[in-house]
Amino acid sequence: MVKICCIGAGYVGGPTMAVIALKCPSVEVAVVDISVPRITAWNSDQLPIYEPGLDDVVKQCRGKNLFFSTDVEKHVREADIVFVSVNTPTKTRGLGAGKAADLTYWESAARMIADVSVSDKIVVEKSTVPVKTAEAIEKILTHNSKGIKFQILSNPEFLAEGTAIEDLFKPDRVLIGGRETPEGFAAVKALKDIYSQWVPEERILTTNLWSAELSKLAANAFLAQRISSVNAMSALCEATGANVTEVSYAVGKDSRIGPKFLNSSVGFGGSCFQKDILNLVYICECNGLPEVAEYWKQVIKINDYQKTRFVNRIVSSMFNTVSNKKIAVLGFAFKKDTGDTRETPAIDVCKGLIGDKAHISIYDPQVTEEQIQRDLTMNKFDWDHPLHLQPMSPTTVKQVSVAWDAYAATKDAHGICILTEWDEFKKLDYEKIFENMQKPAFVFDGRNVVDAEKLRKIGFIVYSIGKPLDQWLKDMPALA
Ligand code: NAD
Ligand code: UDX
Repeated sequence: MVKICCIGAGYVGGPTMAVIALKCPSVEVAVVDISVPRITAWNSDQLPIYEPGLDDVVKQCRGKNLFFSTDVEKHVREADIVFVSVNTPTKTRGLGAGKAADLTYWESAARMIADVSVSDKIVVEKSTVPVKTAEAIEKILTHNSKGIKFQILSNPEFLAEGTAIEDLFKPDRVLIGGRETPEGFAAVKALKDIYSQWVPEERILTTNLWSAELSKLAANAFLAQRISSVNAMSALCEATGANVTEVSYAVGKDSRIGPKFLNSSVGFGGSCFQKDILNLVYICECNGLPEVAEYWKQVIKINDYQKTRFVNRIVSSMFNTVSNKKIAVLGFAFKKDTGDTRETPAIDVCKGLIGDKAHISIYDPQVTEEQIQRDLTMNKFDWDHPLHLQPMSPTTVKQVSVAWDAYAATKDAHGICILTEWDEFKKLDYEKIFENMQKPAFVFDGRNVVDAEKLRKIGFIVYSIGKPLDQWLKDMPALA
């Protein structure tokens, strides 16, 4: 029986290993983590992450061929294949601060693997890492190996949150990079044999190590670049009277461009896009390619611009001040169907409004008050560290309250901001909400989820990202 151990029981390690266990009953899978609360949650009925379909997969395999444990060393020692899916945050200090990937957690995992191993192993990079990381990991392992042989593979993960199980069941592709040596090819084949139990052969791509590592950064950069492109267009649409939904549709009908990932929004969020582009920018700079670095930096600049633009629009529409006004924020997660708030645009929008002295009432169906307060008081990039190392702020933001539903959040509010595209926000009783709000009542739709015309008929002043502006908004232009 092949034994797999995955170090890191997070958004990637947990779902990925659960699906491997489900699809490969003859493989024993152990997912290990240094975080005791996380492992306790994986072993309970309340899993540590919300992901549609995940509960069901875990229930089918847990205790049979899927185990969650804090005994990291034991499971690593016993494994034939060790996946490493730990945090690779942006560095906050020292060389490359604010851009480069911090490989502290990866390096400590690699040193531990070398320390405890008593048999040959395949070590798989599942975390997203800078290109050439495998070379550094190889050095750490071989210099500490005591004669044991390690083969390093790069097998980046392409799942998106909210659709992780679907993505893992039917991936567009699985990418495996390895050394171009007989031992390297054998290791690639061993990992391919696992995936081929449910992924069609033609969807399993094999490359050299550096292509696999770089393809992951490139894929995320291309995806984020599409969003910044459509968001840049959204500003021009508002200035000219064009409608970004119509423009996206017309552009996406070109089969060379395609229709997906062209939804204009208040900005992209999530743990990957910004971090991975910053990492890419740093690698370009280190390789003497400042023009290439500058090109990718622009994707993040437009994303920041979009969030600032949204806040400016709210403030300018409401007579240039939101001081002491109640603003309801509907949605805090970085996208629907997840409780994940890492790098969510809601953090920047809320901080912008708080900066202008607004009182904010937030409702999100999956995010807790503790998480919201933590996010609004945390320093940039601190979120991407194992949970027990994240700083707990002793203070809370007094101007922020958290409501149990959208009706409580919007009661007596002057304006509503929609920041996550949860389906339930489309079906709210907006007539009832309008009655209970201060007048004039505003809706700022950062996800284009509501029917703006219907809301205007009720009496709302509505701003929808990238859509033609109504007269009120034209009369109150956002100041720079
Ligand atoms: P996460 O924070 O949810 O999980 C990482 C886990 O690793 C944490 O539970 C942490 O306690 C654990 N950990 C850290 N150091 C450890 C060590 N030395 N030993 C044991 N456990 C350790 O992060 P994630 O979202 O699962 O991301 C993991 C990696 O996968 C990152 O490199 C990320 O960029 C990449 N990735 C993430 C996604 C996504 O959608 N979240 C998608 C593709 C790739
Ligand atoms: C992303 C990649 O899609 C995935 O392949 C990779 O493995 C990890 O990073 P994720 O961040 O989970 O996945 O979600 P994704 O669906 O890509 O959305 C990222 C952000 O972009 C969200 O804030 C989302 O709302 C936003 N987005 C997405 C848009 O604003 N417009 C779009 O058209 C699509």
